[in-house]
Amino acid sequence: MTIAITGATGQLGRFVIDRLKARTDISNLLALVRNPGNATGLGIAVREADYSKPDTLASALKEVDTLMLISSSEIGQRLQQHRHVIDAARQAGVKRIVYTSLLHADTSSLSLAGEHIDTEQIIKASGIPYTVLRNGWYTENYTGSVKAAVAAGAFVGSASEGKISSAARADYAEAAAVVLTSSGHEGKTYELAGDASYTLADLAAEISRQIGAPLPYKNLPETEYATLLARFGLPEGFAAAVAGWDVAASGGALFDDGKQLSRLIGRPTTPLSVVVANAL
Ligand SMILES: NC(=O)c1ccc[n+]([C@@H]2O[C@H](COP(=O)([O-])OP(=O)(O)OC[C@H]3O[C@@H](n4cnc5c(N)ncnc54)[C@H](OP(=O)(O)O)[C@@H]3O)[C@@H](O)[C@H]2O)c1
Repeated sequence: MTIAITGATGQLGRFVIDRLKARTDISNLLALVRNPGNATGLGIAVREADYSKPDTLASALKEVDTLMLISSSEIGQRLQQHRHVIDAARQAGVKRIVYTSLLHADTSSLSLAGEHIDTEQIIKASGIPYTVLRNGWYTENYTGSVKAAVAAGAFVGSASEGKISSAARADYAEAAAVVLTSSGHEGKTYELAGDASYTLADLAAEISRQIGAPLPYKNLPETEYATLLARFGLPEGFAAAVAGWDVAASGGALFDDGKQLSRLIGRPTTPLSVVVANAL
């Protein structure tokens, strides 16, 4: 039984491999990576697999039973890239695909949703048995800004009073490992999110509590926030996208209270306070 994991050098991929090692022998695991030079320390077999280079995919997927397709990070190119992987998987006789999609991809107002829902449809049309993991926001997306916020004296965003049900990358990785190593998940689509939800004002309050000093949340209009992010060095288009995702969050795009993630992993999702403490 070979389980191959794409995006294995990424932050989620590394957690997935770590969690899989606890559930199966490492001889069953195969890391698929764009650049084998970056794959140091994974502790499992490695093959080159670039989503944009179909010839690498054909050989990478030989004798793979189960494929964990971690969505590409190259927004805008992902649909074609994912199509290459799914086509190669079909030709190689892969028996199951597990794909990391987006929370409520079919109804989400996030600009990211289109590529994910289209990928889900390609997977379904391929005839390969599948499981879709519709992952919510990583808590780390926000806590990555904790130090900068403390330095600036405010946590800034455009999510207003929107409730965010994020979870740690490690939680989503654990869910992937469960699905990859147990039965009964075929044809299922899981909406995965954290057990608890918070607003960015709640997040600022948690940071305040941990640093022992006041840290207000400052809500900015979308364009002002995008301009600020670009001033901090984000490419303009990406800054605008990030601000847009926050605005979508203000309308509930990152909220979910179904608790499917904690049910899958058999434990509560990592509390916000823990991820904040790690970031600090
Ligand atoms: N739920 C969320 O909040 C959230 C947030 C951010 C991203 N995501 C999505 O979830 C995925 C995993 O998250 P992450 O935090 O692990 O992202 P990450 O750390 O940026 O890792 C992305 C992975 O995708 C690989 N990749 C990119 N382009 C590729 C290509 N052309 N061929 C093969 N591999 C390619 C990267 O390989 P290299 O090491 O060679 O760069 C890397 O291993 C992301 O790619 C993105 O689709 C979700």
